[in-house]
Amino acid sequence: MTAFPEHPDYTGLNAPVRMELDIRNLPVEGVIPPEIEGAFFRAVPDPAHRPLRDDETLLSGDGMVSRFLFEGGHVDYAIKYVRTARYLAEQKARRALFGRYRNPFTDDPSVEGVDRTVANTTPIWHAGRLLMAKEDGRAYEVDPITLDTIGPWDFGGQMRSQTMTAHARIDADTGEMFFYGYEAAGLASEDIAYCIADRDGRLVSEQWFRAPYAAMMHDFAISERYAIFPIFPTTTDLDRLKEGGHHWVHNQELESWIGIMPRYGKVDELRWFKGPPGIHSFHMMNAFDDGAGRVSLDLHLTDTIAFPFVRAASGIERQPWEMGGGFRRWTFDLNRPEDSFEVRDLGPPGDMPRVRDADQGRPYRSAWYLSMNPQGGPPLPGGPAGAAFNALVRIEPGNGRLEVMGVPPGHAINEPVHVPAADPDHEGWLLAVVDRQADGDFRSDIWVIDAGNVAEGAVAKVHLPVRLRPQVHGWWVPRAALEQVEARAEAA
Ligand SMILES: [Fe+2]
Repeated sequence: MTAFPEHPDYTGLNAPVRMELDIRNLPVEGVIPPEIEGAFFRAVPDPAHRPLRDDETLLSGDGMVSRFLFEGGHVDYAIKYVRTARYLAEQKARRALFGRYRNPFTDDPSVEGVDRTVANTTPIWHAGRLLMAKEDGRAYEVDPITLDTIGPWDFGGQMRSQTMTAHARIDADTGEMFFYGYEAAGLASEDIAYCIADRDGRLVSEQWFRAPYAAMMHDFAISERYAIFPIFPTTTDLDRLKEGGHHWVHNQELESWIGIMPRYGKVDELRWFKGPPGIHSFHMMNAFDDGAGRVSLDLHLTDTIAFPFVRAASGIERQPWEMGGGFRRWTFDLNRPEDSFEVRDLGPPGDMPRVRDADQGRPYRSAWYLSMNPQGGPPLPGGPAGAAFNALVRIEPGNGRLEVMGVPPGHAINEPVHVPAADPDHEGWLLAVVDRQADGDFRSDIWVIDAGNVAEGAVAKVHLPVRLRPQVHGWWVPRAALEQVEARAEAA
């Protein structure tokens, strides 16, 4: 195989690693709080082959499932490729066969009709099942103990949607998983499938509706009573795809829309609110309602799209530091007839939000996200947005209180997971991979952070003997949940 392209998505922090590893007892600096017992799963895109095009986005990288197992103060690391149909076909050919990001018309004819998803965005844990999800296809089920791939998951043949989001929402009280698929009827379709799986993982509801236009719909939110579907003007078009063009183009003049419906209701109850043109949000922190028809959605907004490869495809000439945005609260009043809503500034720009699992869909006191620390020196080039985050923010949205942990210059921080504490007065712990420049290359560590006191920095660090490629999302699975799966496997 020839070398990877000299392109920002394949060099520096983004240089492919491609190693399947299994390392026991990583060196620990400091003491890991004993209540951190379980698995920190991560989804890591890492191309197994040189892409067909030199400017192919790193979002097309083959999904690897990675696990840090925390046990009795020790940490083990394992990472394996998800054996997607695409990965297996390319392994056999010893080269890339799939072309441009989400454009099957650019593929080698030998793989026509083969599932193109790379399962590289989020490890979702629900009902004792680990799913590696990417929004362009169905998720792949992975064995959480061996990390071996089981196969694509369609809820036992029940799900009609051809796609499943990487951003499912789980209600901690009911155990239900709320999710959706967009482009559900196939490439560039406007169809959205809204789905609910019960606490045992059975698909109990799948309803389809049409979006105002076929858009990138990366995330959504639930409150205790509502499901909220934001639509931002990053759109796709079948004719463009057939001509070999880009999947996404961002439309600076096109309005955004927010659809809200009762979460157990019918899709014909969806009510659409009109948002500003040209904006985008990848991630919603959370949503909640007051039980009287007022619904709040907290989200990370930018005034254009944050991905440079989409801006380039859209003729938008804006550098990362020229983007505006922030962490905002949108409040919708379902009692009023207008299609407008209230806007409140909550905090500085950033992304990769994390709420406690128990706070999902409910009013919440505090939460965390990643941001840029202007005192932290220039950000490391890395990740799909081209610049890696170098600060962790703890925010109390109710009163605007902010606490920031900047990482030192030459460091980058990945999205944290939250581990609850047994003590109800303690906010728990955050685990995040921090990459750092070292000897002309990079090294990675896991930082263990007191979630209620992030400014204090790491209380323990776990050192990796290798560099890690930037992750997309992670998921924390407590030891008890893993033990249930092990017991089930032994009984079978
Ligand atoms: Fe995401």
